[in-house]
Amino acid sequence: MSWPRGVLGVLGLLGACSGAPEVEPAACPVHEPSSCSDSPTYEADVRELFARRCTSCHSAGGLAADRDLGSFAAVRRIGTTVLGQVQGCRMPPPESEAPLTLAERSLVVQWFACGAPER
Ligand code: HEC
Repeated sequence: MSWPRGVLGVLGLLGACSGAPEVEPAACPVHEPSSCSDSPTYEADVRELFARRCTSCHSAGGLAADRDLGSFAAVRRIGTTVLGQVQGCRMPPPESEAPLTLAERSLVVQWFACGAPER
């Protein structure tokens, strides 16, 4: 299976619409998946990543509790926004947290590109 070329074009548009300054691709690279045959899943990969890097703010009592990222349903509900933030290196907020690593960012982008499966 080949990487769906159209997806990255759409991702670029999402980033452009968020109102934040454009990020140079070189400053925010991502590994494009060559295949979805071994797609990340929410249960196996994404839940743990978001729990470690996002839900301190994005769950009840956090700075961004109104955008809960603590469950599959919640992440899917605001999925396009989540993807735009991760792809543009806008979250976690640079002033408060270390950026996602290339591997972490690539995992999230590949997960969305492969249909954001739960398991
Ligand atoms: C240190 C706290 C903190 C962490 C950690 C954090 N965020 Fe956020 N996030 C915020 C705040 C605060 C806002 C609201 C910003 C605003 O409305 O201007 C926000 C907003 C967002 C939004 C909504 C943006 C929009 O335009 O509506 C998304 C999506 C998001 N964060 C995703 C994530 C993801 C994914 C992670 C983990 C990789 C993450 N955040 C980690 C604090 C955090």
